[in-house]
Amino acid sequence: MGKNYKIGIIKGDGIGPEIIDEAIKVLDSISANMGLNLEYKEMLMGGAAIDETGVPLPDETIQGVKTCDAILFGAIGGPKWDGLERHIRPESGLLALRKSMGTFANLRPAIVYDELVNASTLKSNIVKGVDIMVVRELTGGIYFGQPRELLEDRAYNTMIYTKEEVERIAKVAFKIAMKRDKRICSVDKANVLEVSQFWRDIVIEVAKDYPEVELTHMYVDNAAMQLIRNPKQFDVILTGNIFGDILSDAASMLSGSIGLLPSASTGKGVGLYEPIHGSAPDIAGQGISNPLATISSASMMLRYALGEEECADRIDDAIKKALSQGYRTGDLGAYDAKEICSCSEMGDIIARYVSK
Ligand code: NAD
Ligand code: IPM
Ligand code: MN
Repeated sequence: MGKNYKIGIIKGDGIGPEIIDEAIKVLDSISANMGLNLEYKEMLMGGAAIDETGVPLPDETIQGVKTCDAILFGAIGGPKWDGLERHIRPESGLLALRKSMGTFANLRPAIVYDELVNASTLKSNIVKGVDIMVVRELTGGIYFGQPRELLEDRAYNTMIYTKEEVERIAKVAFKIAMKRDKRICSVDKANVLEVSQFWRDIVIEVAKDYPEVELTHMYVDNAAMQLIRNPKQFDVILTGNIFGDILSDAASMLSGSIGLLPSASTGKGVGLYEPIHGSAPDIAGQGISNPLATISSASMMLRYALGEEECADRIDDAIKKALSQGYRTGDLGAYDAKEICSCSEMGDIIARYVSK
C-alpha cells in the first residue's frame, strides 16, 4: 500500500503553467515507481485568479492550502496586470498567501552543478563547488511594514522587524548551518539602518545557543560584491526579505541560470515550494523555459514536507544525469549543450530518469 499525499498546485501566470506541468510529470513518474499516491488540488492565485475571480488570492485558495500536505507553486505576474492598484496585483496575492500560510523562512539553495561550471557568466574556477544556502526572511521587513503610501509628492514604505521575527529566522539559519559547514554570514545594512542594527544584535544573541557555528556579518552592498568576487566563502547567508530577494537572484547566476534555483518557503504549517524566478513574460508561451527550478522545488517538497528522501534524491540525481549528458534548455544552451531541449522535452527526460 502506497502513501497518500495531497499536493496543492498553483500554476500561476506566464511560464508558471508550463513549468508546473513538467514538475507534475516528474512527480507522477516517481510516484508510480515508488508507490506514492499523490492527489493534486489545483488552486488559483495571481493574474489567473484576477481574471477568474477579480482578486489575486481568492478565499477558496486561502482555505484550500490548509487542507494540503504541501503546495507546489509556479510563478505569477505579468504586464497584463501591472497597471492594477497595488492591493489587487498578482504580487500582492503571493505576498498575502505567504503571510497567511506563515511561511516566514525561505530557503534558497544556490548550488553549482559540476556539469554546468562553464554555464556561469563567471570563470569556472570561481564557481566550481559553490554550495550556498540563502535563508531569506519572507513575511516581514519592508514588504509588509506599515505605514506605506504612494502620494502625489512623496511615497514611503517602512522596514520593520520585531524581535520574534528575527529570532525565529535566525534559529532556522543556525539549525541549517549545524547540518552544513557551520558558517553563517548575516547580511544587513547596520551601518545605516536602525532596523539592521536591531537585526544584527538579535542574531548575535541567538548565536550564543550555537557555539559551534561561526557567525560573521556583512553589509549588503559588500555581500553583493563578494558573491561575485569569491562565492565559495559563503556557506549559509542569513538575511531579511528584500536583501534576500536581491542576493538570491544574483546567486542564481553562479549556477548558470535563474531557471535552476528552487526554494522552500516553510514556517508554521504547510510549506510552499516555488522556483525563485518569476513568470518570465518575455519567453512565456514559447515552450522554451527551464523547468528544472520547479522540478528541484518538487524535490525539496518531497524531502522537507513529505519526508520522502529517496524520491527527492532520485530527482536530484536525474537532474544531474540529464545535465551531464548535455541536455540543456535555451537559457543554458550556449554552454556544452549536446541537445537544446524545450521545456516539455526536459520534463520528459527527467521523468524517464527518475523511473529507473
Ligand atoms: P523573471 O524571473 O520572471 O525573469 C527574469 C529573466 O529571467 C527573464 O529574461 C526570463 O526570461 C528569465 N527566466 C526566468 N525564469 C526562467 C526560466 N525558468 N527559464 C528560462 N529563463 C527564465 O523576473 P522579471 O522579468 O523581473 O518579472 C516578471 C514577472 O514575474 C513580474 O510580474 C514579477 O513581479 C513576477 N515575479 C514573480 C515571482 C514569483 O511568482 N515568485 C518572482 C519574481 C518575479
Ligand atoms: C520572489 C519574487 C517575489 C518577492 C515578488 C513577485 C513578490 O520576486 O519570489 O523572489 O519579491 O518575494
Ligand atoms: Mn525575487
